[in-house]
Amino acid sequence: MKKIFSALRITGLLVLAIVLANATLETGDQSIFEAYPIIWLVLGVVLLIGIAIEVSVAALDRTLYLSLKPEARKEYDLFLAEKEKNRFAWIRRTYDKLLDKKPIEKEEEIILDHNYDGIKELDNNLPPWWLYGFYASIIFAGIYLARYHIFDGATQKEEYLVEVAEAKAAVEEYKKNAKGLVDANTVELLTGEEDINAGKAIFSGNCAACHKIDGGGGIGPNLTDSYWILGGGIKNVFNTISEGGRAGKGMVSWKTDLKPDEIAQVASYVLSLHGTTPADPKDPEGELWEDPDARVDEVEVKMEDSTSVEIQMDYEEAEK
Ligand code: HEC
Repeated sequence: MKKIFSALRITGLLVLAIVLANATLETGDQSIFEAYPIIWLVLGVVLLIGIAIEVSVAALDRTLYLSLKPEARKEYDLFLAEKEKNRFAWIRRTYDKLLDKKPIEKEEEIILDHNYDGIKELDNNLPPWWLYGFYASIIFAGIYLARYHIFDGATQKEEYLVEVAEAKAAVEEYKKNAKGLVDANTVELLTGEEDINAGKAIFSGNCAACHKIDGGGGIGPNLTDSYWILGGGIKNVFNTISEGGRAGKGMVSWKTDLKPDEIAQVASYVLSLHGTTPADPKDPEGELWEDPDARVDEVEVKMEDSTSVEIQMDYEEAEK
C-alpha cells in the first residue's frame, strides 16, 4: 500500500511538472516535447528528486519507529491500523448522505399505515442527489425560458444559419488565397507570363527528357500538334499530368511531385506550345482534339456573316 502511494505521489509530481511547463512555455502548434526536447531532462531530474524524497522520508520513518520503546511501538501500530481502516470512510459517508436512506433497523419509524394485502409503504425522504438535481433543472428552466422566450435569444435554426454563413465566408476567403486547390474539374487555362514561365521551368526540369524541350516528342508523344491520345484542353491535360497516362506507357502520375497549382502551370505551358514548330516533331498520335469552348470562335472567324450567329445559337442550344 505504501509503495503504491509513493508511486502515485511521484506520478502526480511529474504530471504537475508537465502541466506547469505547458502553461508557462510558448510552443505554438507543437507539443511541448517537440518544442523543448530538454523537457525530458527536466522530467528526469524531477523523477529523481521525487524518488529521493520518498526514499529518505521512508528511511526516516523507519528509524524513528525503531527508536521507539516496545510499548510505544505497539500503540503506534494500533494507531496506524485504525488510520488504515478509516482511510476511505469519507467515500462511504458521502454516499450515505447522498442517498439519505433509513437503516433497516429504523424502518419502523417511517412505515405508513397503508396496508395492501400485507404490503406496506415506507415514507422515505427523497434522495438528496436526486432532489438537488431537480432544483438545478428548475433553475435552468427558468433561465432558459427567460433567455429564449422573453429576451429573444437566437433559436437553434438562427444559430445554425449564422454558423453556415460564417463557414461559407471562411471557405470563400480560403479559396481566394489557396491556388493549390485546383483540380481537373476547376482548373482554368493560365495565360499570365509568370505562370507560363513557371510552367516552362517545370517542363524543362521534369518532362523534356521524354517530350523534348520544344515538346516535339520522343519517348512521349508530340505535345504541339492538335492530336491527343488522352484528350486535349486544359482539363484533360491537367488530368493526364496529375494521374499519369495509360499503364505501362511511361507517363507517370505527377501529383506526388507537383502541387496542383504547379500542374496547372505546366499544363498551361504545354498548351501554349500548340501550333509551334518543333525541330524534330514526332508524328501525331491519338485523335484530333477540338476544344468545345473554342469551336464557336473558330466558326465565327471563318464565316463572318449571319450564319455564324445561327450556328452559335445552335451550339448554345446543344449545350443545354
Ligand atoms: C518517362 C517519360 C515521360 C516523362 C518524364 C513525362 N512524360 Fe508525358 N508522356 C509520356 C508518355 C509515354 C505518354 C503517352 C502516355 C499514353 O500513351 O498513355 C505521355 C503523355 C503525356 C501527355 C498526354 C499526351 C496525349 O497525347 O494525350 C501529356 C499532356 C504529357 N505527357 C505531359 C507531360 C508533362 C507535363 C510531363 C512533366 C511533368 C511529362 N509528360 C513527363 C512520357 C513521359
